[in-house]
Amino acid sequence: MSKRFTITAALPYTNGPIHIGHLAGVYVPADIYARYLRLQGHDVAFICGSDEHGVPITIKAKKEGVTPQDIVDHFHANIKSSFKEFGISFDNYSRTSAKIHHETASEFFKTLYDKGDFIEETNAQLYDAEAEQFLADRFVVGTCPKCGNEESYGDQCEACGTSHNATDLIKPKSAITGAIPTLKETKHWFLPLDKHEAFLKEWILEGHKADWKPNVYGQCKSWIDDGLRPRAVTRDLDWGIPVPVEGGEGKVLYVWFDAPIGYISSTKEWAQREGKDWEAYWKDEDTTLVHFIGKDNIVFHCIIFPAMLKAEGSYILPENVPANEFLNLEGQKLSTSKNWAVWLPDYLKEFPEKQDVLRYVLTATAPETKDNDFTWKDFQARNNNELVAIFGNFINRVLVLTNKYYKGSVPTPNDLSAVDTETLEKVKSYPDILSKSIERYRFREASQELMNLARLGNKYLADEEPWKAIKTDSERVQTIMYVALQIAAALAIVSEPFLPWSSKKLKTMLRLESPTWTSVQRGDSLLKPTHQIGEASLLFAKIEDSEIEFQLEKLAKSKLANLIAKKVVEPQKETVSFEDFSKLDIRVGTIIAAEKMPKAKKLLVLQVDTGVDVRTIVSGIAESFTAQEVVGKRVTVLVNLAPRALRGVESQGMILMTETPEGKLVFVSPDASHETTNGLKVS
Ligand code: MF3
Ligand code: ZN
Repeated sequence: MSKRFTITAALPYTNGPIHIGHLAGVYVPADIYARYLRLQGHDVAFICGSDEHGVPITIKAKKEGVTPQDIVDHFHANIKSSFKEFGISFDNYSRTSAKIHHETASEFFKTLYDKGDFIEETNAQLYDAEAEQFLADRFVVGTCPKCGNEESYGDQCEACGTSHNATDLIKPKSAITGAIPTLKETKHWFLPLDKHEAFLKEWILEGHKADWKPNVYGQCKSWIDDGLRPRAVTRDLDWGIPVPVEGGEGKVLYVWFDAPIGYISSTKEWAQREGKDWEAYWKDEDTTLVHFIGKDNIVFHCIIFPAMLKAEGSYILPENVPANEFLNLEGQKLSTSKNWAVWLPDYLKEFPEKQDVLRYVLTATAPETKDNDFTWKDFQARNNNELVAIFGNFINRVLVLTNKYYKGSVPTPNDLSAVDTETLEKVKSYPDILSKSIERYRFREASQELMNLARLGNKYLADEEPWKAIKTDSERVQTIMYVALQIAAALAIVSEPFLPWSSKKLKTMLRLESPTWTSVQRGDSLLKPTHQIGEASLLFAKIEDSEIEFQLEKLAKSKLANLIAKKVVEPQKETVSFEDFSKLDIRVGTIIAAEKMPKAKKLLVLQVDTGVDVRTIVSGIAESFTAQEVVGKRVTVLVNLAPRALRGVESQGMILMTETPEGKLVFVSPDASHETTNGLKVS
């Protein structure tokens, strides 16, 4: 029976292009799901748009000397086209600067306001007197009260995912000027999450224990168990949706208040265009609402937005929120600022027409239950060993042989052997196998089952060897090729959600028109005898080592640039005259004995042979070197430093040390030059 679904994918912030982390975590799984539902004949609204408010956008605009509108206009276009080029099949892609969104979000706020669902409160908020600005969200950093991360933002800690109020931060600091904030009174509207606690407990903790992913359920439980508190939903900023009530002048809605309402306004925009009723997709109890997001968005989609929807009163709540964990790249966290990412516009330029390859690899390695790593070697291996060697190879053999033996006309099968029947039965079972995985949001597993269907085809051909049988038993070959063609057709149909381009290409090659998901399920003949297929062309192409090396070199360049950027140069001290410098008596010495200073973590007591005498030097290097390893080392010694007693031992000089770019302490060695870990030579 056809059902109605509203599928949303997190609205991306419009301050940079999309990278593979976004695609793997949110958009590819959401797209597979939406395409799958459409194949089942369901009524689907797949909704997204650009999230154009919020502090990071204003920070970026300021830095580049342009307006926030310039920034969002640029990236809205950029992101929208990346999605299109990767086949993310949104029914609508809107933006939160659109008029319809401003209206919808304002109206939503007013409804809650009129119902008395907000607390209106004037209290002290963090203020940067130098910048003359209140500090909320990303304008302020400080220590997270929950996990101790020292770089938590005002509204959310990226280390532990907690969402908090800016005033909760320990040792807050302005991200604009670096100033220590003062407190200044201002009025805001708060959503009293505490009042919704009972409902959230019942709805999530009791209602969704079994069907929500453990990572999602666990995070929700921990927030609810910690106790929910009122959250400000307005801000003293000038970029955003104006607060539409009395006293709201000069204030805007908090970005996380307006952005999820963007799902609703985007649905409205779509419905207007398509002549549909948007309310059915948001208010009808028979509609299934699913939010696809990354793990940093869980609290907003599982707690805050549902509390807003519930308070409003006329909306349905999400049935599921299948949040993914994060994808890493070559063992490191993806980072926009460190340029540690694979940007989609770059990928498309460097791997033209290989969208399906990236979609497949990202699905096969999706961070569904834990963070996962994307590596270029794995990308190459999955392409060459799976898409090319299994899927592509099977299809190619079927098409080439059919054209060769039968001029492209599907042969009439003769008696089916036990293996044939068994094989066709297996093919018939795949739609259900895939459904089971997809409906539980296990896209990774589903992608492997899809590959298993291709494996089945490959194995069938390898076992039945039509290229040998053709010499002795042409009747048998007709049956073999008929069966193989059915597998190829089934692959063309069920691969559509995962590999939309390849599916389409394969359908064109097979001239496959009408059969559907259900025809595969029923075991219908998908390609009937005498049906004429087309020419074979390659579905997937091998990726060469040189292409992978190119990508790895690009990343190595980012790494080096980051190392150089990270090296904070200490300001040079005051100039010394040559006269002063020449007072220093520097000699080459050898450490002949060393021991740890008792009860001093940092100190080693060294006996140093300077060539003229052996003297005692107390050196603060015990955290970097053991006594044992320094004995025998040739070092540079300042011998005429005024003697100084350290813990009762007189130190008669100083061993000269320096730091490598990574901050590692090394001896200023008179002999050796040595390699530091980044390959720079320090002598
Ligand atoms: N822009 C947010 C992010 O990229 C996601 C917003 S999702 C929405 O993390 F629900 F608010 F739209
Ligand atoms: Zn934290």
